[in-house]
Amino acid sequence: MCATMGRPEGRAIFQVEFALRRSKTTRGRTAVIVGAQWGDEGKGKIVDVLTQTFSVVARYAGGHNAGHTVIINGKKFILQLVPGGILRPECTSVIGNGVVIDPLAFLKEVASLRAGGVRVDGNLFVSNRAQVILPYHRMMELGSENAPGRVKIGTTSRGIGPSYEDKMGRRGLRIADLLDTQLLRAHIENTCREKNMIAHALFNSEPLDADKMFREYADAAEQIAPFVRDTALLLNRALAEGKSIVFEGAQGTMLDIDHGTYPFVTSSSATSGGAATGTGVPPTAIDTVIGITKAYCTRVGSGPFPSELLDAQGEDLRQRGNEFGAVTGRPRRTGWLDLPLLRYAGMINGISWLVITKLDVLDHLTEIPVCVGYKVDGKETDEVPAQACGYEKIECIYRNMPGWASPTQDIRTVEALPKAAREYLAFIEKETGARVGMISTGPDREQTILVPSFISELGLDSPAARD
Ligand code: IMP
Repeated sequence: MCATMGRPEGRAIFQVEFALRRSKTTRGRTAVIVGAQWGDEGKGKIVDVLTQTFSVVARYAGGHNAGHTVIINGKKFILQLVPGGILRPECTSVIGNGVVIDPLAFLKEVASLRAGGVRVDGNLFVSNRAQVILPYHRMMELGSENAPGRVKIGTTSRGIGPSYEDKMGRRGLRIADLLDTQLLRAHIENTCREKNMIAHALFNSEPLDADKMFREYADAAEQIAPFVRDTALLLNRALAEGKSIVFEGAQGTMLDIDHGTYPFVTSSSATSGGAATGTGVPPTAIDTVIGITKAYCTRVGSGPFPSELLDAQGEDLRQRGNEFGAVTGRPRRTGWLDLPLLRYAGMINGISWLVITKLDVLDHLTEIPVCVGYKVDGKETDEVPAQACGYEKIECIYRNMPGWASPTQDIRTVEALPKAAREYLAFIEKETGARVGMISTGPDREQTILVPSFISELGLDSPAARD
C-alpha cells in the first residue's frame, strides 16, 4: 500500500492548510524570483541576497538546462539543479515537483558542492513527485533537433522537453518511482524498448541498453534516497511555522511554455504561476513577485528577439557582458532593453519589484537606446504576438537615453550612481510600473545596490526567521 495514503499524513496536510488560512500574519513571508526576459538575467545573485534572511529556497521548474553562476569571495559556483540557498548552510534548499531531475546530473552537482566544502546533507531536499530525466529523453531530443524538416529550437540537449512530454503524457517516471526498484526495472525495460523503436524509426538512432540503464539508475536511486521528501508538505509546514520561502525560477518569462515565444521556448512554466504548481504551495500564499532583468537584453538559442543587435554594438555587449551560456558555453544573442516585453513580463507574472542586473556593462556608453514601443503595420501596439512569425512584423521604437560613461562597479547606493544612471532606472520604473529594488553592478555578492524600501518590504533588515 502507498505510504502517502496513511491517516497521519492526511491529518498533517489538513492542519497545515488550516494554519495557512487562519492567519496571513503568522505564516512566513514568500517571494517569487522570476526571469523577466529569456533567462540568464542573474537570478542566482538575487536569490543569494534574499537568503541572508529567508529560511527556504525552492526551485519550481526546469532542470539542469539552467545554470546559475554565483561568485562569493572570488570563488565561482555554477548551480544547475540545486537552488542557490545551498551556499548558505543555515538555509534549506528544495527541488520542487515541477522540476525535471537527471539523477546523474544531480549527484554530480552534489559531489562538486561537497568537494567545494558546501554542506548538502540535511539541508537539501528533492520532491518525491518530481519527474526523472532518463537517457532516452536525451536521445529523442537530439534526434528531433537534428531531423530534417523539424523546427530547430536550439535546446540545451539535456532531455528537458521529452521528459516534460512524458510527464504530460502520464507515462513519466517520478522520483518516488525511481526509488521503487521493481517499478524502476519494469519502467526502464518497457519505455526503453518503446523509445528505441521510435528513435530508430524516426531518426535512425542507435538503441540504448535497458539493462545497463537500470543498473546505473538503481545505483543512483540509492544515493538520492536520503534527499527525497514530500516537499509540498515540507514547504507548507515551514510556512505555517512562520518560515520564509524564496521560490527560485529558472529560465525566463519569454521561454515559458504558455507565455513565451512559442515554439522557441522551454517546456516548463517558468513564470510566477509555476511557483504554485511546481511546489505545491497555494497561490494565495505568495506575497511578492520580483522580476529580474538585465539592463539590456540577451537570448540563447533560436527564436524571436525584437531588439536584437546584429552589429558591432551587439558584439561589444557580448564581450563586455561575458555573454556566453553558463551551461552550453554558446554565445548569447544581445540587444537593447525591450520595455514592451518588460511590461508584458510584469503583467504575466504580477511583478511588483524589479532587479536590474549588469548595469555596469553599459558604463562605457554615452548614449543608450531603449526599445520603448512596438509598431506593427505602421501602428503602435502594446500586444505581444502569439505566433513566432508575428515578431517579424515588429518595428522597435527606440528612445536614446543619455549614458553615464563612468564606472559603477564600486558604487553601493542609488544616490551615489551617476545622474544618467539614476535617470535610466527611473525611466524603467515609469515605463513598467514596477519599482526597482536592487541593482547589480558586478558579479560579486558585494557589487550590489539595495534600495532601502526594498530592504524593509522584503524584511532583509530583520533578523533571519529561520527557527
Ligand atoms: P531546453 O530548455 O533545453 O528545452 O531549451 C529550449 C530553449 O530554452 C532554448 O532556446 C534554450 O537555449 C533555452 N534555455 C533553456 N534553459 C535556459 C537557460 O537557463 N537560460 C537561457 N536559455 C535557456
